[in-house]
Amino acid sequence: MENSRFKRTLITTALPYANGPVHIGHLAGVYVPADIYARYLRLKGEDVVMIGGSDEHGVPITLKARNEGVTPQDIVDRYHRIIKDSMEGLGITFDIYSRTTSKIHSETASEFFRHLYDKGEFIEQTSMQLYDEQAGQFLADRYVTGECPHCHAQGAYGDQCEKCGTSLAATDLIGPHSAITGSVPVLRETHHWYLPLDRWQDKLEKWILDGHKEWKTNVYGQCKSWLDMGLQPRAVSRDLSWGVPVPVEGAEGKVLYVWFDAPIGYISNTKELLPDSWEKYWKDPETRVINFIGKDNIVFHCIVFPAMLMAYGDNYQLPDNVPANEFLNLEGDKISTSRNWAVWLHEYLADFPGKQDVLRYVLTANAPETKDNDFTWRDFQARNNNELVAILGNFVNRAIVLTHKYFNGKVPERGELEAVDSDVFAELAAIKKSLGDNLDNFHFREALREAMNMARLGNKYLQETEPWKLAKTDMGRVATILNVAIEICANLAIAFEPFTPFMSGRLAKMLGMGKMTWDSLGSDSVVAAGTQLSEPQLLFEKIEDDAIQAQIDRLKLIKQENQVKSWKPEPQAADVDFETFMKADLRVGTVLECEKVPKADKLLRFLIDDGLEKRTIVSGIAKYYQPEELVGRQVCFIANLPPRKLKGIVSQGMILSAEDADGRLVVISPSAQVSPGAQVK
Ligand code: MF3
Ligand code: ZN
Repeated sequence: MENSRFKRTLITTALPYANGPVHIGHLAGVYVPADIYARYLRLKGEDVVMIGGSDEHGVPITLKARNEGVTPQDIVDRYHRIIKDSMEGLGITFDIYSRTTSKIHSETASEFFRHLYDKGEFIEQTSMQLYDEQAGQFLADRYVTGECPHCHAQGAYGDQCEKCGTSLAATDLIGPHSAITGSVPVLRETHHWYLPLDRWQDKLEKWILDGHKEWKTNVYGQCKSWLDMGLQPRAVSRDLSWGVPVPVEGAEGKVLYVWFDAPIGYISNTKELLPDSWEKYWKDPETRVINFIGKDNIVFHCIVFPAMLMAYGDNYQLPDNVPANEFLNLEGDKISTSRNWAVWLHEYLADFPGKQDVLRYVLTANAPETKDNDFTWRDFQARNNNELVAILGNFVNRAIVLTHKYFNGKVPERGELEAVDSDVFAELAAIKKSLGDNLDNFHFREALREAMNMARLGNKYLQETEPWKLAKTDMGRVATILNVAIEICANLAIAFEPFTPFMSGRLAKMLGMGKMTWDSLGSDSVVAAGTQLSEPQLLFEKIEDDAIQAQIDRLKLIKQENQVKSWKPEPQAADVDFETFMKADLRVGTVLECEKVPKADKLLRFLIDDGLEKRTIVSGIAKYYQPEELVGRQVCFIANLPPRKLKGIVSQGMILSAEDADGRLVVISPSAQVSPGAQVK
């Protein structure tokens, strides 16, 4: 923070909903970049606090509890644990990871609301809302479905029709019903408190549109479009029993809207961490606040929460930057908790023990910083094998092994530097500069590329100087080269610490380094000559095909399950008259032979005893049966189709199968043995 007006940094990370575990989308969007940034500032010796926690209120949690027949508290207890443990497992260094069901949070959020209420910062309005009499509760928009008044699609949600994309109010739906009980909701009057965002329009415009042109274009653009549309009052309470009660008389059965209480969680968690000095991190203009979030959270962090903070007053600081990321997809499809389409962090940690850095590396190298990106297991494997193993691990291993070979692992003194050596040190300093610039500007992908360039530099250096060829003739020169190579290793340990801290720690230990600091990065004297290196151990290992295939197979299975869940039979076909139907000659035959058709992976060739003769039929069910298991079975077939040539074989008819939800074909057989040739009527 040289030359800056700030003395300390408060990093906040979006509080994940405790209605499911965290997945790679959360990590790539929020927690990995935030952790890189926090570790970078700590390496620089700056005063930094990183705040995290679970967001434990909101309607989806209550619905999940209802579905499982447990309490909302059970749900959030379960997922808070999983999230907290798995984040720790990945090395995300929160200074605190707390939760919005804590006592200090409900007190803080409650006081915040009451303060705005007392200052007259809210307006109170009545409205008609849909009410589920059977469940005894008002229905959040998302939990009312019905017919879209625009395109007349069924199953439109109370906030939006997914068919035509129109934004709706739940009361617009034709034939609405409750997603909780399926009953028809009734209209009931209710009243809520609203934060009139329009009162803050001018201040927000000045602050963002004039004052923060340096924000990422996606963030600035979203803010501008909200502001250009003109801000409206927003309800900050809900009719619900799960949440922080509205601290006002006559507000029984009402709680703070989850998006009102959750960002206050950043404050309560700071309070919990630093009971005596938390205010310094929120109210001192010398504190720099940075919010790490995903793009779906932009409006809340750039418009609504800042308006809440301004309304509160008392010098609460607005964020200096909100480096929101776009989304990460998984194998080409949108990540979805409800469809189980995700790589879950706790499962990754169990499936790939000791490989935290690989995931951190891949999610950063492929981070959705400027556009949505795709995670694929093949890319994961390739980046590990071709980059971490082949470039970084390989260089470090060569440098350390050679030092052991020629100097018993003791870092040799360096002699006179040649141009090729000084170039290395100049290059290290240059990389440090651009690494730092990129990190300062939240360009983590680019920063990681720079760090990797340091390893490339090391490989190139050994390739050019070839110390193994000089060992017989010029040990003095070998000493210098390996001294320089070990310096590159030490620089790598520091440069990679924010990205792959587990590897960095092991490397630093191998090199006998003390505490790593940003100051020593880029210098030529991180490790003193004479230092004893420990035995070389590999920093990364190859990931084999079978481990990757297992993950791909698992996703394939989930895709099938989802297909089955959403499957509906085809609508009934148009009428056919009886005579026409009777023209089809359906019969039963016994399978005499069955074998795969060469060079056709879908086809089986059958020889069928149809009672009159032996007929050949080719059928496209090879994927679903072993030929042997069908021999001796009876099947139904259409006898009077014109013969058709398939892969050179004349097929005399068609075997009947049912197509199941997952696309599997199941052969139709009579329920008891019948004479071959029996007609199906
Ligand atoms: N739980 C929200 C989400 O996952 C994020 C809340 S961020 C906070 O989208 F600011 F409200 F805490
Ligand atoms: Zn519609």
